[in-house]
Amino acid sequence: MQKISKIAVLTSGGDAPGMNPCIRAVVRTAIYHGLQVAGIRQGYQGLIDNNMYDMNTRSVSNILNLGGTILKTARCLPFRTDEGMELAYQNLKANGIDGIVVIGGDGTFTGALRFSRKYPDIAVIGVPGTIDNDLYGSTYTLGFDTATNTVIEAIDKIRDTADAHDRLFFIEVMGRDSGAIALRAGISCGAEAILLPERDTAIEMLIENLKAGQYNKKSSSIVIVAEGDKSGGAYDLAEAVRKQIKFYDIKVTILGHLQRGGSPSAFDRILGSRLGFAAVNAMIDGKTQMMVGLEANHIKLTSLEEALTQHQFKLEDDLMQMADILSI
Ligand code: F6P
Repeated sequence: MQKISKIAVLTSGGDAPGMNPCIRAVVRTAIYHGLQVAGIRQGYQGLIDNNMYDMNTRSVSNILNLGGTILKTARCLPFRTDEGMELAYQNLKANGIDGIVVIGGDGTFTGALRFSRKYPDIAVIGVPGTIDNDLYGSTYTLGFDTATNTVIEAIDKIRDTADAHDRLFFIEVMGRDSGAIALRAGISCGAEAILLPERDTAIEMLIENLKAGQYNKKSSSIVIVAEGDKSGGAYDLAEAVRKQIKFYDIKVTILGHLQRGGSPSAFDRILGSRLGFAAVNAMIDGKTQMMVGLEANHIKLTSLEEALTQHQFKLEDDLMQMADILSI
């Protein structure tokens, strides 16, 4: 088993609230075990550019409550090339680093796994950090809870004005391949319809439902559209529906990147702390090419390969069925 004496930590891909509590846990757990820790700035880009610094317990003071990531993040194309990976490897070796904790989503893990197969002497442990909640091997990913609450707060406000004006709102939420935020926010806000990448919704059916709502004396309607829904974005949908529904004034709101910001919820602070703590312990135990996740409230290790191949997180059937029934 390879002896670990210095580790590095990075955040990559879309930032997610809870990354900072996780970085804090990684740094402090490593120091507790007598390891040195380096923080890599801007994800894999920082590895390639040798943009890293030594961290101590004070480097992570007062960050539990901060959204974003103190290490910064990036989507890094050069790391997909052999040359980029080689540069990253040389920098890790030159800095005496034996293992890295990578916090991010599926793109981050794809890079981590490829790198680790090429350079197996560097241990790699992944922490699922994405608001999309779409990684196999963890019921929840970092940032999902905070983002869902942010979306709920925004939609509640939109509901006030929708109701005041008797309007129909199409609200687009994040989730390129995942309807996780849309589904939970939709249930929590009583959305009249929720459009998800995981299922097809016929526009005719949507229009029938909205008409039924009006017949049932609904004064306002909210349709939540996950950005990856196959029927197009909120604007296209609103345009199509406008042609057939005249009784509502129709408006569109794209919530966009505000969903990724904000102070992490209690849940995400604790999840980030647990996963960061577990990641370092796993590395000290000699684990590599693994993701630490939370299943049934217990820490579970899943191989990065499995986390990626089973990638598409399945939305709960009962939630989908319930959402439709409760919104009538
Ligand atoms: O991966 C998380 C995510 O929030 C997706 O839902 C969304 O499509 C994407 O990030 C947007 O990323 P960017 O900040 O690069 O536009």
